[in-house]
Amino acid sequence: MIHELPGSLPAAVPMPLPRRVLLTTPDHFQVQYVINPHMEGHLGSVDPDRAAAQWSALRDRYSALGMDVHTLAGQPGLPDMVFCANQTLPFLDTDGRPGIVASRMASSHRAPEVPHFEAFFADRGYVVVPVEAGAGGSFEGMGDALWQPGIRRLWGGYGFRTDRAVYDRIQERLDADICLVALDDPDFYHLDTCLSILDGDTALYFPGAFRPEGVELLRQGFARLIEAPEDEARRLFACNAHCPDGRHVLIQRGCRITTARLQAAGYTVIELDTDEFLKSGGSVFCMKVVFW
Ligand code: ARG
Repeated sequence: MIHELPGSLPAAVPMPLPRRVLLTTPDHFQVQYVINPHMEGHLGSVDPDRAAAQWSALRDRYSALGMDVHTLAGQPGLPDMVFCANQTLPFLDTDGRPGIVASRMASSHRAPEVPHFEAFFADRGYVVVPVEAGAGGSFEGMGDALWQPGIRRLWGGYGFRTDRAVYDRIQERLDADICLVALDDPDFYHLDTCLSILDGDTALYFPGAFRPEGVELLRQGFARLIEAPEDEARRLFACNAHCPDGRHVLIQRGCRITTARLQAAGYTVIELDTDEFLKSGGSVFCMKVVFW
């Protein structure tokens, strides 16, 4: 079912947690065009050595936390391929078989990234589902579509990179409950820039990026919502944090208030430097995709 307005959400159907994570090497990462407001003023300004060091530190963190880490080589001419949350939405079907929905990127600059990810997953035996299925509309994978850990419920953002209509087709194919939230502020152009689902009960969010009915729906879906202050959300991508195991939260360094709130809620916060990637409008969450 698709849910858009507050009302009672159906009882959650359990789904196992993913333990694998895929990252794309930053060899060809750069700001070469402007497709979100954060990229403005940063053309050509990425320091490749700093970016490589920041990326390696993130990869090593995932390994240290016991995730099964995979890497895909970044390709020349695809400077945003490092943001590998966007090209696919991994899923488990109702029989427990893993697959991916292949994205249809909103920008022609990024469209050629997707086949590299389709090949990665197809080679490993994953079912690859195209999002088009005869109809139009863009979809940017786990940038906009986030699983609520442990249950068969997907949160779908739309308005900038993903078209609302695409979720009808995804719902039919995946047989999941989908809660839809409209995005209204161009600084928060992907759902993962203003919502990070930490565990089955808890999410970190910036309410100012949503409409009132979206905030209401989130209140219904999560027993606990932790709010990031506007400055940390907008400038430091506080809500692009990632909690891979329900306990540790990886987040851009310097999100002082958000960090204190996460610690007060019982999480262990791991601060990382992702400032080279912030120039392109991405941080921790954008730089990986988790899969089964
Ligand atoms: N420069 C990239 C873009 O605009 C950044 C993508 C960040 N990814 C994310 N999941 N928010 O597409």
